Amino acid sequence: MHSIQFDGKTSGKAECERETALLAASTKAGVPLPHMCGGHARCGTCLVTVVDGAEHLSEQGNAETRVLLALKAKPDQRLACQTWARGDVKVSY
Ligand code: FES
Repeated sequence: MHSIQFDGKTSGKAECERETALLAASTKAGVPLPHMCGGHARCGTCLVTVVDGAEHLSEQGNAETRVLLALKAKPDQRLACQTWARGDVKVSY
């Protein structure tokens, strides 16, 4: 069991038993994280900043990298719809 914590306009935490996408965890946590393209790595509205636990996150895929480059995202930012957590993680948005 691991937790994924969100801090932003609304804060919340999801307890997860297995590897979970950050976007799915936000829904479980009751945090209304924007996701205009429906989680298809097209809009960038699900951008989050990783505060803690980056070592527990999945590697960036090509689709995520393309969007992050277009957004000029910082190295600690990820797309919640394209990032899976397998350990304790804290993000802000
Ligand atoms: S929801 Fe659109 S890029 Fe993640």
